[in-house]
Amino acid sequence: MSVGTASRAGRSEELRNALVDTIIADHAAKGLTMPADVERAMRKVPREAFTPGVSLEKAYENTAIITNRRGAETTSSVSAPYLIAEMLGQATDALGGLAGRDVLEIGSGGYNASLLRELVGASGSVTTVDIDPAVTDRAAACLERAGYNDVTVVCADAEHPVEPGRRYDLLIVTAGAWDIPPVWREQLTGDGVLVVPLRTFGMTRSWALRRSQDRLISHSHRQCGFVSMQGDGGHRMRYVDVADGVHLRLDENQQIDPGVVANVLPHPRQEAWAGVSLPPRTVLADLDLWLAAHLTREADEFLVLTAQEKAVESGIVAPSWRFGTPAALDGGTFSYRSALRWSGRLFDLGAYAHGPEAAAAAGRMVEHMRAWLDADSPSPALQVVPTRTPDGDLPDGTVLDKRHTRIVLTFHTSGSR
Ligand SMILES: C[S@@+](CC[C@H](N)C(=O)[O-])C[C@H]1O[C@@H](n2cnc3c(N)ncnc32)[C@H](O)[C@@H]1O
Repeated sequence: MSVGTASRAGRSEELRNALVDTIIADHAAKGLTMPADVERAMRKVPREAFTPGVSLEKAYENTAIITNRRGAETTSSVSAPYLIAEMLGQATDALGGLAGRDVLEIGSGGYNASLLRELVGASGSVTTVDIDPAVTDRAAACLERAGYNDVTVVCADAEHPVEPGRRYDLLIVTAGAWDIPPVWREQLTGDGVLVVPLRTFGMTRSWALRRSQDRLISHSHRQCGFVSMQGDGGHRMRYVDVADGVHLRLDENQQIDPGVVANVLPHPRQEAWAGVSLPPRTVLADLDLWLAAHLTREADEFLVLTAQEKAVESGIVAPSWRFGTPAALDGGTFSYRSALRWSGRLFDLGAYAHGPEAAAAAGRMVEHMRAWLDADSPSPALQVVPTRTPDGDLPDGTVLDKRHTRIVLTFHTSGSR
């Protein structure tokens, strides 16, 4: 090995260890623990082998690296390391370890597949599938060069069976899905696990779901963002303009009158505050699904507000998170979860509303926030059942009807699941 190659390998190891240390610290701040096997794999696999053309420093940033675009849309990337670590952690926890497991990864790039290869060991197997031949060609070449030549790479639309007749202990999806095609459940072993970034109410979470006959039952969830699934299972999000740089995301086949929405923000803003001091580590992503479920059960139309930086800076809107804030439309009145307010010691939760019934709408949203805190900040859980399942066989919860499945969202405090 030349001096240059040796020093690059040393620098790579240094950067990789620093990245893993950062991810472990992030996990701890979220109350998560990275499984030891995942840590070992992440300290071993050289991410730069799957990011040709970018510097070593960039390869070890804790962000996704875009590899394909179609117009303005990102269609492929090497996923962000912290997200990969969280999803591998979900899979490891749900299955009690990955050694000896058969795994199908949906959405290729090579990096995650090689981590999986390390985790399953010699007695397990990894297949990775991508719909885009440019991605599979690149992933296969990178895997080969990095010495992971025992990963099977397939080019196909994973909405359909990938290796017909095969069953997997783990199916891990690395693109954002709107629904779960039957084959993902059918190709799992009896108590196999599906880890999937799944969109419900316009918000995506990585769910670890364990198969139980014809159902899938959630084991854990994490907040995440991914490029969307393409192919036969693709389901586009639609947006309606509220003002310059402010949009509403429509999901679940919603219909909204753009004329109504375009006229809400000129109404004076009303606000309501919960008057609470948020406990540290409160998972507000769980509150957002609680609001979706509860507002949907009332007459309101639940929507997701997105805003560009300039719109927030100009003060037209002050959402809790500009990439996706829970919002509701009731007639001509529009409400949303506001940015947190510093109460002098800790943060408070609030809602802003515009329109003829603004004060009542902001108050209603804040009541739901208080109810969530009073219930001990319950976490969401999912059951996914086939479309033909009658209402009487569903657990009590909020039901979302998708194309292939009925999804029931319930809430549990720790220990009550
Ligand atoms: C975020 S990238 C995958 C990242 C990769 N797992 C890694 O190791 O970093 C998502 C990939 O999903 C692929 N994809 C989207 N829809 C698909 C489908 N229906 N079937 C198979 N692959 C799909 C895209 O082409 C894209 O390359």
